[in-house]
Amino acid sequence: MRESVAVTPPAARAGAVLWRRGASTRVTHDDTTPWWLGEALTVGSQGLTLDGVPLASVVARHGTPLYVYGATTVRRRLAQLRDALGTTGIPYRIHYAMKANRFPPLLALVRAEGDVAIDACSPSEVSAALASGFRPDEISVTASMLSRRDLAVFAEQRPHLNLDTRSALRRWCETPGHAPRVGLRIDPGVAVGWGDEPKLRYGNSKFGLDSEALLDTVADAQSLGLEVDTLHVHVGWGLQTNAAPLLAQVYDRLAAWARQIPTLRVLNVGGGLCSQQRPEDRPLPLQLWARLLRDHLGPVCRDRGLTIACEPGTFVVAAAGVLVAEINTIETRASGTWVGLDTGHNANMYAAHYGIPLAIVPVHRPLDPPAGPVHVAGNLNEANDMFARDLQLPALGEGDLVALWPAGAYGAAMASNHCMRGLPTEVLI
Ligand SMILES: Cc1ncc(COP(=O)(O)O)c(C=O)c1O
Repeated sequence: MRESVAVTPPAARAGAVLWRRGASTRVTHDDTTPWWLGEALTVGSQGLTLDGVPLASVVARHGTPLYVYGATTVRRRLAQLRDALGTTGIPYRIHYAMKANRFPPLLALVRAEGDVAIDACSPSEVSAALASGFRPDEISVTASMLSRRDLAVFAEQRPHLNLDTRSALRRWCETPGHAPRVGLRIDPGVAVGWGDEPKLRYGNSKFGLDSEALLDTVADAQSLGLEVDTLHVHVGWGLQTNAAPLLAQVYDRLAAWARQIPTLRVLNVGGGLCSQQRPEDRPLPLQLWARLLRDHLGPVCRDRGLTIACEPGTFVVAAAGVLVAEINTIETRASGTWVGLDTGHNANMYAAHYGIPLAIVPVHRPLDPPAGPVHVAGNLNEANDMFARDLQLPALGEGDLVALWPAGAYGAAMASNHCMRGLPTEVLI
């Protein structure tokens, strides 16, 4: 079941409130403050809250496993993006990457912002965006390995396409009703991403035209009657502060290519901005990102009257979402103490697919001291269906709730019905 619910947050809070030994105090960050506490997640007299709403109260209404998304955090993140992009002095357009989270009430929320467009990657995503009220000219598609069938549907839906194979360009021209303006996605030849995980760096050339072939491809497109109006790059997921020098290289290359293509209108720098996923993460700060855009793309944008587009998914929705699960099993074996949840990797495959951990936070007493290491396992018949090994957690009991965070991006969107465990319910608060 998928639905939206409006839960009224507590009356205006004068700052985040931390619950400790029955007293309420302001959050002041020091070495003992859990890294997950402060932005979207806070602690009140009823335990863990998302955007100020006690998660226990949302679960009381909807059960578990449950994805809860906070509208306030989504709006705040979009406002932060606007503020940062505004400092570049370059005209810009934000395309929310709906592959991160396509929950209809969340798409409606993004739509209601008024100035945010969509990045889609399949005909069905375009249909969902149209159904949420986005106009075709507000939808940009950057997709991979497109079929003739896909292209025929896009010709009817009329979003803007960024294509990344010469094959797709050729077949697009053969598609009845195709739009003549297209973008080209280029492999920037620089692999940047989160940690050491190669799956999160797009350097394997699945995506993007060879940059050496760019000018020939533009000429081919012209001879086919197309006009290349956009250059697109997307370098990887989870960009950290230390990615700045590599990003500068990517943007320099993009600027150099842009100067050689007179028909361009837009430089699309893709997604990749992120949230903290582990205590040691240092996400690329928005201000630094904006400075890179300004310094490395600003001159060509000014000279040529270009707009910058970006496609953030994770940055907009990851921190806004938690997956709440109930502990159904606590058992000590020779291998350690096992905490079993009523959800598994079918509901969130971050750990399984990419090795990305989620914070696991007890909902009722989030700030209790650690009581020892536990293994946290899901309910799939898969040996690898684990959310954590040897994790220090407070004392917990069967029937307690835990929140997995940040889970708003690529959680429900990638969920499956493996073992027929069903899709998790989602609510927007
Ligand atoms: C082309 C493109 N744009 C944007 C995104 C969104 O990326 P992120 O969630 O890292 O912002 C992706 C993610 O896979 C992508 O492939």
